[in-house]
Amino acid sequence: MAPSKVLHVLGTRPNFIKMAPVVEGIAEVLPGTEQVIVHTGQHYDRMMSEVFFEELGMPQPDHTLEVGSGSHALQTARVMERLEPVLEIEAPDLVLVPGDVNSTAAAALTASKMGIPVGHVESGLRSGDRTMPEELNRILTDHLAEVLFTHSEAADRNLADEGIDPDWVHLVGNTMIDTLVRLEDRFRAIGKADSLGLEPDNFLLVTLHRPALVDGPLLGEAIEALSAVGKELPVIFPVHPRTRAMIADLGAEPEGVVLTEPVGYLDFLSLEADAAAVLTDSGGIQEETTYLGVPCFTLRDNTERPVTVEQGTNTLLGLDPRKIPEIPGLLASRADEAVSPPPLWDGRAGLRAAEVLAGD
Ligand code: UD1
Ligand code: UDP
Repeated sequence: MAPSKVLHVLGTRPNFIKMAPVVEGIAEVLPGTEQVIVHTGQHYDRMMSEVFFEELGMPQPDHTLEVGSGSHALQTARVMERLEPVLEIEAPDLVLVPGDVNSTAAAALTASKMGIPVGHVESGLRSGDRTMPEELNRILTDHLAEVLFTHSEAADRNLADEGIDPDWVHLVGNTMIDTLVRLEDRFRAIGKADSLGLEPDNFLLVTLHRPALVDGPLLGEAIEALSAVGKELPVIFPVHPRTRAMIADLGAEPEGVVLTEPVGYLDFLSLEADAAAVLTDSGGIQEETTYLGVPCFTLRDNTERPVTVEQGTNTLLGLDPRKIPEIPGLLASRADEAVSPPPLWDGRAGLRAAEVLAGD
C-alpha cells in the first residue's frame, strides 16, 4: 500500500541534489502522500546548503536538527537524539534517506529501531574500502532498509552478494542525474567559465574533500602538483570547507591555481560541462562527468561507482598526487570516443522510485 506520509532526512550537499527529484516524483505520482523534510544540519554554510534549496526548488525543511560538525560519534549521536522526537511527532509510514553520509546512517538506525520502515536512495554502492566512513554508512543503511533504490546493476549484485532480499531492491536509475537533466538548459546558459576568464575546454576543474587526501600531507603534495599543471592548463578549484582550513595551514596561495569558495549547483555544473577535464575525489562528480562526457580523473585507489570507469569517462589515478602532472598528457593521448550514459541515467529515476512506492 502506498505510504500516506513519507519523511525525508537530508544533511549534506549531495543529499539535497539526490533527493530533490524523489520529493518531486512522489508529489507527482502520489499527490495524496504527505511529505515531511528534515534537515539534520550536517552541512550548514549557505553555499553547502541553502543555495541548493533555492536552485533546486526544494520545499524548505519542516524540521532542522542543527547537529553541525563534530566527530563521527558525536554527529551520528546528535542526529539520532534529535530525530527520535521528530519521528514520534510526525509518525511517518516511511523514512527515506539518500547516499552514504553520517546523517544517512544515523537516520536509518533511529527509524528502524522505532519500527518505521526505511528506504535508501542510492543503495548498493561498495568501494570495498572499510577505512572510508562512507562505506560503513552504506553497509549499515542497506542492511537496515526495506526499500532499496539502486542506480546500476553492479549495485544490485553487491546487495545480492550480501544476502539482501532481491524483492526489496529496485533498480530505478540515478536521481542525481535527474537533477542535472532537469537543470541542464539553465546551467548550459550560464557560461561560468567565461565569466571567470577561463576558455571553455581549456581548464581543469578540481574538487578534493576526502579525509584520506585532505586531512594529511597528501594535500600539500596535491596543491604543488596542481601548480605545476597550472603552467599548461588553467586550474580552478572550488574548495570544500573541510579542505579550506587545511589549505590555509599550508600558507601562501598556490601559483597557477584559482581557489574559490564552494559554488552553487548551477555554477558548478556550468564549469563541469565546459571543463577540459575534472580532477576529483567526489562520488557524485564521477557520475556527473560520465553523463556529460567530460574526462574525470579520480584521485583515489578505488571507487564505489565502477560503472563510471567501465562505461563512462572516469579514470582512477590512485591516491597519489604525483600522478596529477600526468593529466595534460593523458588528455592529449585520449581518443575521442562517444560515451552514452549508463541505462536509466535518464532524468526519470525519481519518478520510477515514486512508482515503486505507489505499487508497494
Ligand atoms: C561529508 C560526508 C562525505 C560527503 C561530503 C559531501 C560523512 C562521514 N562525510 O563530508 O561522505 O562526501 O559530506 O560534501 O558524512 N564544514 C563547514 N561548513 C559546513 C560543513 C562542514 O565549515 O557547512 C567543515 C567543518 O569544519 C567540518 C568539516 O567541514 O568539521 C567536515 O564536515 P563533515 O560534514 O563532518 O564531513 P564532510 O567532509 O563535509
Ligand atoms: N557541487 C556543487 N558545488 C561545488 C562542488 C560540488 O554544487 O562547489 C556539487 C556537484 O555538482 C555534485 C555534488 O556537489 O552534484 C557533489 O558533492 P560532494 O562532492 O560534496 O559529495 P560526494 O558526492 O563526494 O558525496
